[in-house]
Amino acid sequence: MAHILVVYATTEGQTRKIADRAVSRIRAAGHAVTLVDARAAAATELGTFDAAILAASLHVRRHQPEIVEFIRKQRARLEDVPTAFISVSLSASSSKEEDHANARAAVDDMFDEVDWDATLVHLAAGAVHDRQMNFLKRWMIHRILRDKGVEMDPSGDMEFTDWAALDVFVDTFLERCRRSAVA
Ligand SMILES: Cc1cc2nc3c(=O)[nH]c(=O)nc-3n(C[C@H](O)[C@H](O)[C@H](O)COP(=O)(O)O)c2cc1C
Repeated sequence: MAHILVVYATTEGQTRKIADRAVSRIRAAGHAVTLVDARAAAATELGTFDAAILAASLHVRRHQPEIVEFIRKQRARLEDVPTAFISVSLSASSSKEEDHANARAAVDDMFDEVDWDATLVHLAAGAVHDRQMNFLKRWMIHRILRDKGVEMDPSGDMEFTDWAALDVFVDTFLERCRRSAVA
């Protein structure tokens, strides 16, 4: 049994949901997990961990500053273990190759900024929940959706996350950890 650290940053909540799903998958595989909100990470005793999954979402082409801060502070420890980075965005839900390339470029830009690289990267499609956003954010995200040829559902809720793909990614990461003899 390995101890896996899962750290997430979320603005509207979808990345927390994705982190929760990863936690369930890891526990079901028989491992111990610590789930940490990046905003509280500085005040949290992380303990030792054998591998780490970090998750954050894109807002105006950037991941949350708290995940950047977390990586900066913990870089030395993260470099010692297998790591996965899950980037949540609407670009990842697009059928256009260019959108995926942009989402990946945002990940690479962040890696350059912190001088760190994850062992594995997953681009996860996010969600839109109108009631969690103010007018300006709603306007912005509806425009992003329209650019991708998607009209907002009248319910005000649209979830694009491919949960099966996320499960496969987590399983692949755990297998990678096992081959590195930690899981
Ligand atoms: C103000 C705003 C800006 C966003 N900017 C981007 C963006 O630049 N690229 C993108 O692919 N998705 C963008 N998104 C979509 C979010 O990444 C997506 O809604 C994600 O599910 C949010 O995750 P969270 O709920 O964990 O914060 C944006 C969303 C909002 C509300």
